[in-house]
Amino acid sequence: MKRYYIETFGCQMNVHDSEKMAGVLRSEGYAEAENAKDADVIIFNTCSIRQKAEQKFFSELGRIKSLKKRRPDLKIAVAGCIAQQEGGKIIERAPHVDYVIGPQNINVLKDIITSKSDSIFTDDNPFITEIELPVDRRDNVRAWVNIMYGCNNFCSYCIVPYTRGRERSRASQSIINEIKDLAEKGYKEVTLLGQNVNSYKSNVDFPGLLKEINKIEGIKRIRFVTSHPKDLSDKLIYAIRDMERVCEHIHLPLQSGSSKILASMNRKYTYKDYLKKVEKLRREIPEIAITSDIIAGFSQETDEDHNYTISALKNIEFDGIFAFKFSPRPGTKASNIDGQLPDGIKSDRLSEILELQSKITERKNKELKGKLLEILIEGEDEKNTGRLTGRTRTNKIVNITSKNNIKPGDIVTVKIINARRHSLEGEIV
Ligand code: 5AD
Ligand code: SF4
Repeated sequence: MKRYYIETFGCQMNVHDSEKMAGVLRSEGYAEAENAKDADVIIFNTCSIRQKAEQKFFSELGRIKSLKKRRPDLKIAVAGCIAQQEGGKIIERAPHVDYVIGPQNINVLKDIITSKSDSIFTDDNPFITEIELPVDRRDNVRAWVNIMYGCNNFCSYCIVPYTRGRERSRASQSIINEIKDLAEKGYKEVTLLGQNVNSYKSNVDFPGLLKEINKIEGIKRIRFVTSHPKDLSDKLIYAIRDMERVCEHIHLPLQSGSSKILASMNRKYTYKDYLKKVEKLRREIPEIAITSDIIAGFSQETDEDHNYTISALKNIEFDGIFAFKFSPRPGTKASNIDGQLPDGIKSDRLSEILELQSKITERKNKELKGKLLEILIEGEDEKNTGRLTGRTRTNKIVNITSKNNIKPGDIVTVKIINARRHSLEGEIV
């Protein structure tokens, strides 16, 4: 039997694309290999959002050169965002690579493993929303579902519009059919995926889509990522408030607390606009968790701008953030903005941001001590076997001490007995 090995870098979109590639390979009779050494096909599903992710991939790619030398039949494919961006240059740089497949073209995988044809697939694919591929899902309780592809926002720092192409929404009926099928298979939670889910538009808008999914029997929780603050409508806020299965959590990237920097990032909102949305979310849905992304040390960011971000974090008190040093990406507008900051300044600002947020997250978690919360059990706690782990509707991880015949997929009420920085500990009541 032939075997495949997929190594995935980057975001949930990529993780889900890897599930599709695995699905295609399985339907062609391939099995998963334990490691790259045993595989007949190796796929790197790459990410180019920051330079660090890119460097990591290229060093992994170098490491398997000797494998190809020993076994010339081995097929090596580079997929994902670096594939799209670099195209044939990847094969020039690393001749042991056979195929380069951009994120809009994973449907070609089936053909290339049966016959060696072209090697570079990076065309814009306007039919991406109509292609249905078999999916080999990693989890039996929670599933990712694409609702849209691509992005039209062109935030000045971001590579995604160049790698994943223009924004295209999938027809609502095919999304609903996929989720009905997942419900029948026993899935309890779906996460709707898109670069900018709240600008979803087909015969219905995003709140309209949520309304349809909310009716599907068996699905207990609906999540979605990522939302852009400029498209966060009152209608969506009311949808989160009123729809029973839509979870009380929103990931709403702020990026910076300085309106000057936000303008230079082309985010299309000011800090004040953002704050108003947060206030409305909390007024309507008091228990909502809000998480965010922050970029530290964008070009021309002064101490004053950075301090606006610090004040924003103190003021808003996010439940959690992802924060990154600004990384200029070739081809984006921001890579040509003067006044790039030295790495040392970026690092210092990032540390300050992370340390502050860490305290806020811990404090917010501690506030949950003694509370009764609904948890969806996901599986065994990775670090401590015998314990189970799950999440609150607000997306916080809870490790559970007592077991009592509870299994993944169950929804239980848990009393929070301990709170740490990154997780909570609960007891089934
Ligand atoms: N440099 C640093 N961070 C970036 N992000 C996107 N592009 C860059 C970049 N060039 C961050 C943003 C985005 C998250 C997914 O990654 O914060 O929300
Ligand atoms: Fe995902 Fe963006 Fe990385 Fe592409 S570049 S894999 S869209 S995070």
